[in-house]
Amino acid sequence: MLGHRVARLILCTTFVVVGTLWKAHGQRDDHIQGSQRFMEYCAGCHGADGKGGDKVVSLATTLSVMTRSDAELIRIVHDGTTEGMPPFAQIGDANIRAVVHYLRIIEGKSAPTSTSAEAAVTGDVNAGRALYFGKAQCSTCHMIKGNGGFIASDLTTYGRSRPADAILQAITTPNTPLAPSSRVVSVTTRTGLRLTGVLRYEDNFSLALQMEDGRYHLLARSDLTDVHYTDHSLMPPDYGTRLTSKELNDLVSFLIVTSRSGRRGR
Ligand code: HEC
Ligand code: HEC
Repeated sequence: MLGHRVARLILCTTFVVVGTLWKAHGQRDDHIQGSQRFMEYCAGCHGADGKGGDKVVSLATTLSVMTRSDAELIRIVHDGTTEGMPPFAQIGDANIRAVVHYLRIIEGKSAPTSTSAEAAVTGDVNAGRALYFGKAQCSTCHMIKGNGGFIASDLTTYGRSRPADAILQAITTPNTPLAPSSRVVSVTTRTGLRLTGVLRYEDNFSLALQMEDGRYHLLARSDLTDVHYTDHSLMPPDYGTRLTSKELNDLVSFLIVTSRSGRRGR
């Protein structure tokens, strides 16, 4: 009797949930097909939420994956990668498109949707742009839509699916966590030369440092007398005190609005 009622309740709830999805997404068929195919083909390695285990990157929250175009994702799923992602050409183009569509949905879920990001724009976007390319000098290191440096990541789409407070935090308390590929390393060579740069590669015999101007130094460990690993990237740690809270808010608003207009990439 009770079991019966519970079953009815679950059934009703299912209808409500499906009904809500049905209304919420114009592309509901894609969504359902995509989530089913994702569970079937991808979740084994990437986890049901796309956030993965130890062996794979989180598809839902990794910037390098989130900023890929749909076409790139389709190609990756179709052909696989040398890093161990198997090819899925055999599931057919419609299924590949459906899982990629679903990836976009879980990316959106792991962060607020663009509508809530839109509500978060409370600063002066033009003032933020001026700071970015001027006084705050963000553009010496970060490119936006083809303008700026390339030692740090491209921020064109960074603000697209992140809440304002997370963006603010990335600016005021960088290096939490520090991506290994952004770590700054200082070395001293046998001839007494000191070099500081971003550690882009290392193995038992050599390491590659990238300087702020983009140049690479390939160094043999046998030529070095000292290698010092820092716990930070090149991102200045003091924006939180160097800029006022209004300036920071303007910057965050600029990053959000820019990423919206940069939706289609360049
Ligand atoms: C057998 C395990 C496995 C399965 C199944 C699998 N993947 Fe992967 N996937 C990997 C590995 C390993 C990588 C590469 C390592 C990494 O980037 O973390 C990867 C990387 C990726 C990337 C990131 C590529 C990049 O560098 O941006 C995407 C996107 C991706 N997989 C999507 C999918 C989708 C969609 C499916 C289902 C159709 C799927 N994967 C099924 C193991 C798997
Ligand atoms: C001297 C170079 C440099 C300057 C100047 C700089 N950054 Fe960074 N920034 C970095 C590096 C290096 C990282 C670490 C990750 C990476 O490579 O993007 C980083 C990380 C970030 C991140 C997080 C990116 C991510 O992928 O998690 C944001 C957001 C960011 N910076 C915004 C800014 C803003 C806004 C300014 C100006 C107020 C600025 N940065 C100035 C070098 C710089």
